[in-house]
Amino acid sequence: MSAVFDHVEFDHHERIIFAHDHQTGLRAIIGIHSTFLGPAAGGVRMANYTSMDDALTDVLRLSRGMSYKNALAGLPLGGGKAVLIGNPKTDKTPELMRALGRAIEGLSGRYLAAEDVGMTLADMEEIALETSHVFGRDPKAGFGGEPSPMTALGVLLSIKTCVRRFMGRDDLGGVRVAVQGAGAVGADLARQLGQEGADVLIADVDPARAQAAAAATGGQVVSVEDVLFADVDVLAPCALGAILNDTTIPALRTKIVCGAANNQLAEPRHGLALAERGILYGPDYVVNAGGIINVAYEVSGNYDAARVIEHIQRVPKTLERIFEEAADEGLTPDVVADRMAQRLIGQS
Ligand code: NAI
Repeated sequence: MSAVFDHVEFDHHERIIFAHDHQTGLRAIIGIHSTFLGPAAGGVRMANYTSMDDALTDVLRLSRGMSYKNALAGLPLGGGKAVLIGNPKTDKTPELMRALGRAIEGLSGRYLAAEDVGMTLADMEEIALETSHVFGRDPKAGFGGEPSPMTALGVLLSIKTCVRRFMGRDDLGGVRVAVQGAGAVGADLARQLGQEGADVLIADVDPARAQAAAAATGGQVVSVEDVLFADVDVLAPCALGAILNDTTIPALRTKIVCGAANNQLAEPRHGLALAERGILYGPDYVVNAGGIINVAYEVSGNYDAARVIEHIQRVPKTLERIFEEAADEGLTPDVVADRMAQRLIGQS
């Protein structure tokens, strides 16, 4: 067990649960980082991790990120995350989902699950057959549904905040934005950017998705290789984590990085590397909080989309406070955001 406590990403996590079910082949890790502000809420991610250590690293980083995200979004929720080890295209069965549901139920509401990469609304309904501690469920039944449109809205408002601060402009007319990933969030973000008059470049490893998103926005498809290095005003990463690293940062040609992907900085020091290149970075977990805000209203038992949107409209204020403090103290926005969050969860 010392390997877990000594893990480089272990950071005051309250509990780490390794869940296994022989019959279904369930192998999952549930990380509960903090319940200081409320039950630990965060998505379930299913991925074909190459090693158990990769899965553990992911769950530790993501669950801490959820603590910080929920705290800075002003939600009465702590931070947690679950990773399900397996290929979401070939290994998923209803029985596997139900086994995960039983593991979540065993935590008696300390962990509240929602959808993340590799999971669908249908999967959440399957999990819900075994536990009531699951959210992001079918809107037809009065739940909040897919959180991604709300995530995209929060990213759009954050991009506008960054553009106002860095470019002194209140509108996005003609602002060039490169979106990496035309999935649930990226495609919706591209659509909203298009409506605001931005020039959108979009890329996806699935060319059909990129084509469809570009067609819906009047945008342009660019290659997966080029999207990060396009000559743009804003880069909006909406696919993978760790894309801001020693290789990519020196080659970026953007003024601003502001997107939905979790854990965009490969390592904390890359926040400074961006600042040294004069690039403004909107800390990912502040920018992408729209989805969990949606979930939080569902958890409250009183889901109301209008109130969710009202809450998301507070994200720019938080971002502005972070940028102000960072400028005043000569720190980077990611460091200031972490510090604010640590104070809010009693870990400073
Ligand atoms: P998704 O799985 O629907 O979309 C991701 C897209 O990225 C897919 O279309 C995939 O083909 C594409 N992609 C993968 N590798 C790529 C690459 N190298 N270059 C270009 N495209 C690539 O996921 P979703 O829900 O849109 O989430 C996107 C990101 O935002 C993820 O990092 C997720 O963790 C994060 N996020 C999502 C939230 C949500 O509400 N869905 C909430 C907060 C964060």
